Amino acid sequence: MTKYVIEGGTPLNGTVTISGAKNAAVAILPATLLVNGTCRIENVPNISDVRLLLRILESMGAEIRRLSPNTIEICCRNVRESEASDALVRKIRASYYLIGAQLGRFGHAKVALPGGCNFGPRPIDQHVKGFEAIGAEVEQLEGYVCARAGEGGLTGGRVNLDVVSVGATINIMIGATLAEGTTVIENAAKEPHIVDVANFLNSMGAKISGAGTDVIKIRGVKALRGGMYTIIPDQIEAGTYMAAAVAVGGDVLVQNVIPKHMDTISAKLREMGAKVTEYDDAIHVQRAGMLRRANVKTLPYPGFPTDMQPQIAVCMALASGVSTIRESIYETRFGYCAELDRMGAMIKVESKMATITGVDQLHGCTVHACDLRAGAAMVIAGLAADGTTVIEEAEFIERGYEDLISKLQGLGASIKRIETSGSEKAG
Ligand code: EPZ
Repeated sequence: MTKYVIEGGTPLNGTVTISGAKNAAVAILPATLLVNGTCRIENVPNISDVRLLLRILESMGAEIRRLSPNTIEICCRNVRESEASDALVRKIRASYYLIGAQLGRFGHAKVALPGGCNFGPRPIDQHVKGFEAIGAEVEQLEGYVCARAGEGGLTGGRVNLDVVSVGATINIMIGATLAEGTTVIENAAKEPHIVDVANFLNSMGAKISGAGTDVIKIRGVKALRGGMYTIIPDQIEAGTYMAAAVAVGGDVLVQNVIPKHMDTISAKLREMGAKVTEYDDAIHVQRAGMLRRANVKTLPYPGFPTDMQPQIAVCMALASGVSTIRESIYETRFGYCAELDRMGAMIKVESKMATITGVDQLHGCTVHACDLRAGAAMVIAGLAADGTTVIEEAEFIERGYEDLISKLQGLGASIKRIETSGSEKAG
């Protein structure tokens, strides 16, 4: 098991460089199954979710060369029409992208139902609705999702999503790329990583327009050739370091970001009293003095991201006054609040609402990471607390944060990683 040990109370000062976007990478890598050639992908975050997906693709016959820690060449030309290894697939929710990719490439797919974080039910009915709209028959049986195109192959169709779903939007886009005819996705999600996946596919020869709006049009093409692509910076990783600078105090330059993607996060931190200055590809965050209370409601992009909910909660736990968070994307995403309360926070959770009464100080103790972003919040809390904080099950954090320890040490944090036993726990 992996643990982090943090000696809190030191302000964060210096520069941190943001890695490639996890939620773009975990879609782009499966999407390479559609490409009849070699893809060279840069700015790939070196995180356990990505390493797991590369193992899955390799087990299917993909040829993968890692040219540098963040540059990968992948050729899926010789991928067999085999099922991906269940044991690996079930470890990560993003495996569901293999359904759209296999369906688009082979006309059929059989993928073990994905696992993922414990935010309550995480259905894939909207993915299924989209695949059916492009002519596939989909059934879920014995823990698998099985999809098969009709006789004539996949055909363009129109789907109006009942729920704004990142995964469904991307999966349908991938599945429709090689379909015969045009597909329209209405009520599509608009996250930056959706635009990034569309840009990747277009750079390989796809004809996708409207990504980033709520109507995406995919004109089917015969084939995708190889090419080069660079993944965008990770909006949530950047937001996490910005929230850390505000909760802990200090003066941090977050570089390699797209400030536009950070708008709601920057606005909320300014509302709480931080000084946030934007540059072309960097954001400077300074916090001195008391933080002010605030309210947050999580929303699909461009609203406040649900993946930043635990991190902003730590800022609120140390602000003066009473703040609230309303979670509107997931059934339950407040598991981390009990852990923060053990450190001295005062948080009351009722259904999808958390009420946070600010305190002067958090106190270090042993806590555990409930999931990826909850784990990131515990790191921020440990850095802000006095005394020592031990975070157990830190493997969750390493699913989505590249080089977290060295990046934080570069900001003056006292944090170290302890590996107790067992292999890398995939995301
Ligand atoms: C993606 O999950 C991200 N994961 C999540 O990030 C993120 O929290 C989420 O989008 C929302 O932004 C990846 O990209 C790998 P959704 P996804 O489909 O695609 C419901 C992280 O920390 N829904 O947008 O699974 C669903 O239950 C992770 O990086 C359906 O009802 O999220 C949820 O309530 C955690 N039917 C809401 O929609 C469906 O078919 C949004 O889910 C699909 C989703």
